[in-house]
Amino acid sequence: MAALLALAATAATAETAPIVQAWPARKPVRDAALEARVDAALKTLTLRQKIGQMTQPEIRAITPDEVRDYGIGTVLNGGGSWPGQDRNATPAQWRALSGQLQAAALQATPGIPLLWGTDAVHGHNNVRGATLFPHHIALGATHDADLVRDIGHATARAVRATGVQWTFAPTLAVVQDVRWGRSYESFGADPALVRRLGQAEVEGLQDGLKEGRGVLATAKHFVADGGTRRGIDQGVSHATPAELAQVHGAGYLGALDAGVLTVMASFNSWTDSADYTAHGKMHGNKTLLTDVLKERLAFDGLVVSDWDGIAQIPGCTPEDCPAAINAGIDVVMVPFHWKPFIANTVRAVEQGRIPMARIDDAVRRILRVKFSVGMDSAVPATMEASQAPELARRAVRESLVLLKNRPGLLPLPSTARVLVVGAAADSLPHQAGGWSVTWQGRDTTNADYPQGTTLLAALRQRLGAAQVMFDADGSQSDPARFDAIVAVLAEAPYAEGEGDIRVTENLRHSQRYPQDLALLQRVAGRGAPVVTLLYSGRPLYVNDLANRSDAFIAAWQPGSEGTGLADVLVAPADSKPWPGFTGRLSFPWPAGPCQFSSHEAKPWWPVGGGLSGRETTVATSRLPEPADPQPICPL
Ligand code: BGC
Ligand code: BGC
Repeated sequence: MAALLALAATAATAETAPIVQAWPARKPVRDAALEARVDAALKTLTLRQKIGQMTQPEIRAITPDEVRDYGIGTVLNGGGSWPGQDRNATPAQWRALSGQLQAAALQATPGIPLLWGTDAVHGHNNVRGATLFPHHIALGATHDADLVRDIGHATARAVRATGVQWTFAPTLAVVQDVRWGRSYESFGADPALVRRLGQAEVEGLQDGLKEGRGVLATAKHFVADGGTRRGIDQGVSHATPAELAQVHGAGYLGALDAGVLTVMASFNSWTDSADYTAHGKMHGNKTLLTDVLKERLAFDGLVVSDWDGIAQIPGCTPEDCPAAINAGIDVVMVPFHWKPFIANTVRAVEQGRIPMARIDDAVRRILRVKFSVGMDSAVPATMEASQAPELARRAVRESLVLLKNRPGLLPLPSTARVLVVGAAADSLPHQAGGWSVTWQGRDTTNADYPQGTTLLAALRQRLGAAQVMFDADGSQSDPARFDAIVAVLAEAPYAEGEGDIRVTENLRHSQRYPQDLALLQRVAGRGAPVVTLLYSGRPLYVNDLANRSDAFIAAWQPGSEGTGLADVLVAPADSKPWPGFTGRLSFPWPAGPCQFSSHEAKPWWPVGGGLSGRETTVATSRLPEPADPQPICPL
């Protein structure tokens, strides 16, 4: 308690007061019995064991024996990392490794279990064969908090089946520039929407935490990950203290209301655009991590650093970073450099460069979180536990946004003869996007999604195989012989900075993927209407593509269940009503190749835009197509 007071006393200096006071004050809620248990457990630990609790190695870089010998408190598997580095590892094999790591940890620190964290960001996406839900950007378009909560429940079940208790989700970014490669991890550009859906996801994930059903959620990445200039991943966010709290902070208020127990620090830096003060990397920002998050917002859970994020603080390396711990990082994600990190951190405490009170506060937070989780999983270690195809299918159905339509074209009659073009129509990797089986979602094939259904397969199920022809590049068939063309265009999968659109590029999809324009040029205007779907992780400039389409659908990255796409494209065969298009944009849709901003004055469609497909008249005027395919966008 004295330690807590000492930390609090240093909190609000005159300089930092405006930053802190921009956020609403929240009151801590403490459970006296839990606090007593935490204090008692803390007393049993040596300094070395305390640092062990704070250290998070990657499963590739540690054995169960080392977990025991170093008294490690938590591990993670990164994107595309599986038990035994075998992508075919079954839930039972995940569970077996979890059991070994857990037993080793309990030998070192009896009564203090180990936490395993994973990126289950759209279902348990590192597990081959698990149902993959649409990415957040698609869920944002559904605007459906109950759906998002249910997806949280289903994801928690899948994660618990594998013996993992912690997911690094939800991302709560409020994206300002869609060039950012992580735009699809965001629910949208509207802070209120991010808050509402973020809260629902945390509720779903953490429900049943004590009973072994729920998993720990992580509100990430704190804060302003979605605000970086030019959408550069891990770049510099310019925002006033008020914008930081009200725009980028909105999701955290929702997550805290839901009782989120962990927060991840962000790779980005922050520059105060009110006074042009550069505050540097978030991992080293004590004002935001401690004074705001832990004190002003009364967050009692733990703050985890991002992947080697400590190394980006001036004066730090991946092996040594007292500054991050002093700023308020409690669990340090040091995937590979954990051994020197432990030695260096113990030394830093012994030399007084990290106060013992800070270490005790960090470990208290870790223990508080651990004692809030029921360690025995209530979910069987089966593949069945990761299956929720009907829920994912519904999510897909609700997420589709119809940007252009010719009245009466959709739904296609269940007797239609359809030509499907575009290689992505038969590609689960393209349907799933990044963070799918592998980190980037690349180096996979349909065989890596044994339970999934492509759009092509779904249309064949729905219309009958004989009624559906597939011609990947559209060169082998005569469109006039079909009732409709279904064309699928797509961005290739990407994750994090690898998905950034660079400053020398723009949002014109056909510039980055000329084959998609060529495809439409081959089939459009040749006797059959063209229904185009775009799989993308963000809104893109598509005027030239929409002009060669009779209907144009933003399908985002729908995940493993292409059946949800067919549900909306094709009229139900029975007397069920057609669901129509209920998805509405959570980002503006650009009318020009340089419209990167979420605050674009004249987009093609604003936030909330989209057609239902039931309109009897819609404006069908041709969209402008500037001659210059590669304009130099203003900086
Ligand atoms: C990402 C995080 C992720 C972590 C662990 C980082 O590179 O920024 O979102 O949780 O890796 O995979
Ligand atoms: C890991 C990801 C991580 C990334 C960070 C990858 O190797 O698999 O989980 O986010 O590195 O750079």
